[in-house]
Amino acid sequence: MKILGIESSCDETAAAVVEDGRKVLSNAIYSQIAKHRPYGGVVPEIASRNHVAKLPGIIEEALEGAGETYDSIDALAVTYGPGLASSLLIGFTAAKTLAMRLGKPLIGVNHHEGHLHSVFMKEDAPSADEVFPMLGLLVSGGDSSLVMMRGVGQYELLGSTIDDAAGEALDKAAAVLKLGYPGGPIIQKTAEGGNPDAIRFPRGLDSVDRGKWIYKYDRELCFSFSGLKTSLLTHVKNLDHEPEGQELADIAASYQEAVADALTKRVARALKRFEIKSFSCAGGVSLNKVLREKLTALSEKTGVPLLLCPPALCTDNAAMIAGAAYEKARLGKAMGEPLDVNPNLRL
Ligand code: KG4
Repeated sequence: MKILGIESSCDETAAAVVEDGRKVLSNAIYSQIAKHRPYGGVVPEIASRNHVAKLPGIIEEALEGAGETYDSIDALAVTYGPGLASSLLIGFTAAKTLAMRLGKPLIGVNHHEGHLHSVFMKEDAPSADEVFPMLGLLVSGGDSSLVMMRGVGQYELLGSTIDDAAGEALDKAAAVLKLGYPGGPIIQKTAEGGNPDAIRFPRGLDSVDRGKWIYKYDRELCFSFSGLKTSLLTHVKNLDHEPEGQELADIAASYQEAVADALTKRVARALKRFEIKSFSCAGGVSLNKVLREKLTALSEKTGVPLLLCPPALCTDNAAMIAGAAYEKARLGKAMGEPLDVNPNLRL
């Protein structure tokens, strides 16, 4: 089954053709990063205008790259939330119109479900049934969550960030340090040769004396990155000069260490508490080298297998949407959904 996926939830305009949920035949992405860089973050108006301008060409590129046509694909899949409403609407309207015109099924996919599925999109990945129940760490620019995955589409949120997402924390740190946007890859680069123990930045929600629950979530499985960001701001303000060279590398390395440590600590806690067969990490921040090393070390220490997202599918893409759609269709879970965009869609 060949599915044409379309993704436009934030600032990546993407389309891809995926066969049987795993084989990526094409993965076309127009990244709008350069358009948003001057503003230090994503500007919704600019994002939706660029989706309108680029999506038709990106869909053509995905079909051509896969050697497919509108007639030869079996179904369409589209991200219907969560994300920026004005961005989601562009991909959604295009997909719905194409599905109606072609008389083919349209499968709506939760963007987070797409990220979680992406760890299965490589040749040597085990089948989903072999590794469930799985603990999923989803870390992107818009979300940081720990998810219990008991089966395809059977996801339960164990904890999430109560303020900034991990990627957002890195993006904001890069802005404070005047390094540019997006922050994750720049902080990683700047941190090379830096001492991760130079500054002890806070890990967020570390004290357990303030009650056990945050809403209905266990405090020990939730994340908080706003204190870390403030701590960096205070540290930089207290310097009487702009940090550079080794000092800058030490700050970046210590900050990156705090983010990766806070994430890994929650995963370690969840591994102790729940009976699971594996754990996984997906989303843009899962590209981070230090985080990958820490999670790999945790896997070796606990003996619980780790599935990491293939680097090409970590940041937003449409292949993961087409992949997740196939799993939903395979299990008969694709029909009867309210097909409209939902910017606040939850797992
Ligand atoms: O998954 P994604 O495209 O965003 C959402 O769906 O929200 O991830 C983008 C995020 C950005 O915050 C970016 O700074 C971060 O992923 N990122 C990284 C790295 N590459 C991208 N964070 C840490 N280390 C990296 N190497």
